[in-house]
Amino acid sequence: MANIKCVGILTSGGDAPGMNAAIRAVTRAAIYNGLEVKGIYRGYQGLLTDEITPFKTNNVSNIIQQGGTILKTARCAEFREPEGRQKAYETIQKEGIDALVVIGGDGSLSGARIFAQEYNFPIVGVPGTIDNDLYGTDITIGYDTALNTIIEAVDKIRDTATSHERLFFIEVMGRDAGFLALNGAIASGAEAAIIPEIWTEVDQLEELIEQGFRKTKNSSIVLVAESDVTGGAMGMADRVKKKYPQYDVRVTILGHVQRGGSPSATDRILASRMGAAAIDALMEDQRNVMIGIQNDAIVYVPFSKAIKNDKPINRDLLNLLHTLSI
Ligand code: F6P
Repeated sequence: MANIKCVGILTSGGDAPGMNAAIRAVTRAAIYNGLEVKGIYRGYQGLLTDEITPFKTNNVSNIIQQGGTILKTARCAEFREPEGRQKAYETIQKEGIDALVVIGGDGSLSGARIFAQEYNFPIVGVPGTIDNDLYGTDITIGYDTALNTIIEAVDKIRDTATSHERLFFIEVMGRDAGFLALNGAIASGAEAAIIPEIWTEVDQLEELIEQGFRKTKNSSIVLVAESDVTGGAMGMADRVKKKYPQYDVRVTILGHVQRGGSPSATDRILASRMGAAAIDALMEDQRNVMIGIQNDAIVYVPFSKAIKNDKPINRDLLNLLHTLSI
């Protein structure tokens, strides 16, 4: 191992359930392997302001079941500038940190990639985002819990949809990805999902209306991925209200409720495996890679691939949703 004695760990970008389980795993696996650990607060911001604390095993006790991140998180604009990254590097040197584990999504790993290249510094990424939009991993930490939160909410909304015979557009998160909308729709028995991956191919709303939503009943639930382009669920509802006033339309935006809560068993296990794998990777002299999971096996995905490639949705799942909503 290339002289790594002390590992810094941070969480960055949007919080995701399971981040704490990952922090715990990184910390414990590092200490198990004789390394020192330092916890960096508020993501990259903590590297600029030197908010860093030595972490022992008990710093991560009793957190595996907690949502959010004990290290706090932020989206740090200053780190996007070369001067900010210079400041971060100075802190890293001062603190005697030899490698970083960054837990976060797309933006956080992009920052890690630039920093690692500029300063030839070892960084391993752990994919923590409810969006599930990182290429090279079947699933990201937080996605499963968010999906479970979505189906719990949709199940409740369905009671009202059925009783009042209404059409509900329910907006879910996902940034530019439709994984939460598509799989949330399948898992909740929704009639359709409107997702960014096929916006340019087809007007999904028109298609739905032409098909008459669900012919066998008078209520419908459509999961809509958030979007500035389409206006999300509000945008869909406005269009329907104007053109088809016969529908009794309502909108629910699930928002940040999707990011919170105690992580599911799947997320806790995933985060534990990925966190420990990040330390394995550093010990194998890996750098500038994201830990991924493919067919239940840990893999190392170069940052360049994880960030730059779009993770495709599974078209079979779209067809399945269509088939099951007749
Ligand atoms: O990346 C996670 C995510 O929740 C996205 O789904 C969403 O678009 C974004 O973060 C919201 O970010 P913020 O909490 O900063 O408004």
